[in-house]
Amino acid sequence: EILMSDQEYGAVNACWDYIAERYGLTVRRVEMPLEIRNKEQIIDTFKSGLSDKTQAMVFAHVYWSTGLAVPVKELIELGREAGVWVIVDGAHATSMVPLKLDEWNPHFYMSSLHKWTLAPKGTGFLFVSDDAQPHVEPLILGGNARRNQDGDASRFDMMGTRDQTPFIGLGTALDFQAEIEWEQIRAYCQGLAGYLKERIRRFKGCRILTPTDPEMSGFITTFTIEGADIQKIRQELWDDEHIETSAFTIKDIPVFRISTHFYNSREDINRMIREIERRL
Ligand SMILES: Cc1ncc(COP(=O)(O)O)c(C=O)c1O
Repeated sequence: EILMSDQEYGAVNACWDYIAERYGLTVRRVEMPLEIRNKEQIIDTFKSGLSDKTQAMVFAHVYWSTGLAVPVKELIELGREAGVWVIVDGAHATSMVPLKLDEWNPHFYMSSLHKWTLAPKGTGFLFVSDDAQPHVEPLILGGNARRNQDGDASRFDMMGTRDQTPFIGLGTALDFQAEIEWEQIRAYCQGLAGYLKERIRRFKGCRILTPTDPEMSGFITTFTIEGADIQKIRQELWDDEHIETSAFTIKDIPVFRISTHFYNSREDINRMIREIERRL
């Protein structure tokens, strides 16, 4: 069995459904509460799905939907103690929440760097722990692929001749954020997300699905407003005001997902709030 929650990203679901079908495995999706108040709820959710059939545990570090940041260290420990492969989808996590891969040591951790790292599209990384590396085969057989079968990761290094420009851009993006200092970015963006939560809480019928605890959230804020046509408002915000937001449904609840990065200000938030309010 492959254990995951019912809130994983679409492509992650598709990937594991494909693997399950191909190798005759079962995907077990445990229901994670929509509104998380403490980290024990998350740990208990995954604990409840572990059994002697479980071979792999898959979860997001930061959920695409509610922006929930899970207690990743504890979940990795839970999976390792249960003797299952631990695979973490960190697409949204890099440059948003603390990342200590050497200390946490999941078997696999992948991240997209075009999101919060602001690097070019097509950049990302895959971390594979020392004990998992011998079990991994290169998908692309480049010049080094048959060397070092039991050794280091150099067999993955060559993948034919490819466009290196996104990776050069990645270096620039990392330098840029290092110059501003990540701790400052984190503090500023947490402040903005906190301010946003404070403001939207005043909407009548507002329900915030992102935890308020800064340990369990980052720079994504997801909320619903009872009775509001959220899709229509989203479209108008873009068409009339050029304010880009995201709107979708989670478990049939229509929501706004607002992403605030360091290039945003409180004034941006005030303007968005005014424009939403006008349309309620
Ligand atoms: C949680 C999560 N996982 C995976 C992905 C896929 O990332 P990418 O589009 O960079 O492949 C996304 C993209 O939004 C995501 O939010």
